[in-house]
Amino acid sequence: MEIKKSEFTISSPTVQMCPKDNKAEYAFIGRSNVGKSSLINMLCNHKGLAKTSATPGKTLLINHFIINNEWYLVDLPGYGFAKRSKVMQKKLEQMISSYILMREQLVNVFVLIDIRHDPQAIDMEFINWLGESNIPFSIVFTKADKLAVTKVKPAAEKYMDKLRETWEELPPYFITSSEKKTGREEILDYIDGINKQMKE
Ligand code: GTP
Ligand code: MG
Repeated sequence: MEIKKSEFTISSPTVQMCPKDNKAEYAFIGRSNVGKSSLINMLCNHKGLAKTSATPGKTLLINHFIINNEWYLVDLPGYGFAKRSKVMQKKLEQMISSYILMREQLVNVFVLIDIRHDPQAIDMEFINWLGESNIPFSIVFTKADKLAVTKVKPAAEKYMDKLRETWEELPPYFITSSEKKTGREEILDYIDGINKQMKE
């Protein structure tokens, strides 16, 4: 699929304030600094579309980007940033969970995992919560350029094996690098497949 046009639509502090039209949307979630905003820019081939930062905690609202005037990519704040105040963490968690549970237009959640790290409790808990809540999701491993090429696939497989301990059926996974533009076609084709299915 070609992305011909990608534009920022709106930043919303609550799910109730998100766009009112009924276009399908795909959201990106994961720990703070995992590379959500960078991935959106990479997919859209649009530097600066979503705001990125080397320091965690950049994205603080629900950000909608309209793609080809047809569907949305949604950039969410990260979870698990220890340096935030407890009140702020709670507020963001509430924003994320109500968006995910209440947003009817939400078609798929991409859960981003830094490929360099062993499975962390916070991600496992989040993934298990998605599964228990019957939210369709897929796993996206980020920053693959930071591992030696031979280590990338084994690291992803090891992570999926860990998930298999809890879940019989596993979602698809993608290996990406926003730096090297790896995984772009695969994710866009996946989204395109779902969009086409919904039109049938
Ligand atoms: P929050 O909005 O704070 O939750 O972070 P985020 O998940 O949106 O991360 P963001 O895209 O802002 O990226 C965080 C840092 O990681 C930035 O310094 C990016 O340049 C870097 N980064 C993101 N993706 C990649 C990647 O694929 N490879 C490398 N080497 N660095 C990356
Ligand atoms: Mg961000």
